[in-house]
Parts: sequence; C-alpha cells; structure tokens
Amino acid sequence: MVESYEEIIEGISEKGYAIIDSFLITELVTDLRNHLLELQHKKELSPAGIGQEKAYQTNTAVRRDQIFWLEEHTDISCESLFLGLIRDFMSYLNRTCFTGLHTAEFHYALYPIGAFYKKHVDQFRFDDKRKFSVITYLNEDWSDDDGGELVLYLPDKTLKVLPYGGRLVCFESGKIEHEVLPAKRDRLSLTGWLKN
Ligand code: OGA
Ligand code: MN
Repeated sequence: MVESYEEIIEGISEKGYAIIDSFLITELVTDLRNHLLELQHKKELSPAGIGQEKAYQTNTAVRRDQIFWLEEHTDISCESLFLGLIRDFMSYLNRTCFTGLHTAEFHYALYPIGAFYKKHVDQFRFDDKRKFSVITYLNEDWSDDDGGELVLYLPDKTLKVLPYGGRLVCFESGKIEHEVLPAKRDRLSLTGWLKN
C-alpha cells in the first residue's frame, strides 16, 4: 500500500489532487457494494444534508444522494477492513507529512439515476477540521457514457473523473471546488474525510 500512499501524497502536493485506480481490490469493492445495496433494500439510507448543526438542512436543489454513516467500531468485516486501510493511510500521512490527523468519518452514498451534487467545497463555514476528502467508488462495470462524473474545478482547468469501481480520489477538503454530475444508473460510493 505504501506505493499508493506515496502516489496520493505526490499527487496532492504537485497538483492538489490524486486519482488512484484499483486502490481497493475487487473483492472488497464487491462486498462494500453489496452491503450498500442491502442498506438500500432495507430502506436504511437517508437523504444527505448540507451545512452543520443549526444550519443543517436537506436541500434537493443542491444534492440528491442517499447516505449511511459508517460506525467507527463496525463489526461488518468489509467496513472494518476499509476503515483499517484508511487509518493506516492516516498514520502514514502523520508520520511522513506531520498532518496531525486523528479521526475519519465516512458514509456510503447512493446517487439514484439523475441525482447530482452541485458545486461545493467540503469544509463548513466555521469549521475547518475536515482536511482531506477521500472518495472511493463501488460501481460495477461503469461505462463512460453512464455519466456521473466528479468534476474538479482546478485553477487552470476543470477535470472530469469517472466513478470506476475501486478508484480513489483524494484532495484537500477546503481547497478544491467540485460537483457530481447526474448519471444514467445508480452511482455508488464510500466517501469521507480525514480530520484533525
Ligand atoms: C461529497 C462529494 C463526490 C463524489 O460527498 O462531498 O463531493 O464523486 N462526492 O461522489
Ligand atoms: Mn464534496
């Protein structure tokens, strides 16, 4: 994994973001996807919100994904494997880049056909604890005309990233504006933040 960690760090320091294909092995992607589909089936997903505390609201003009937050001490093996990987990456970052990260919060997200998340940054107005955004995709056989791109608004260009299963995207939460475009099929991911 150290090679991927280094690739992420290099990407972020040189370009502001990193995209790593096959960060997650296929078996783990499959298990996480099946778990998310089971949550959907049991109607345990909730409409995602925006803002924090008193300013928290759901706003379907801004985002239309359905989410489920992972428990920190989950006993579901694919989730604890995933969170273990994330914690390992966090401690690597702390050791090599003195980032001082100590918590991770992650949620599954399901964007039904046509759902989107308008342009935003991942930090709240009065809270900059979210340092790095980490998005991993759980889609099976995503094809380029299925849409659902993540659009990164970089200083010199906009970049469209397709949500291929196993792919990881990472960037500094307060720095890069981004949005999610509508897709022709349900779009599945596991998204979270590494925090101070
Ligand atoms: C988010 C987000 C991007 C994606 O959940 O804040 O921007 O590609 N997700 O799912
Ligand atoms: Mn975001």
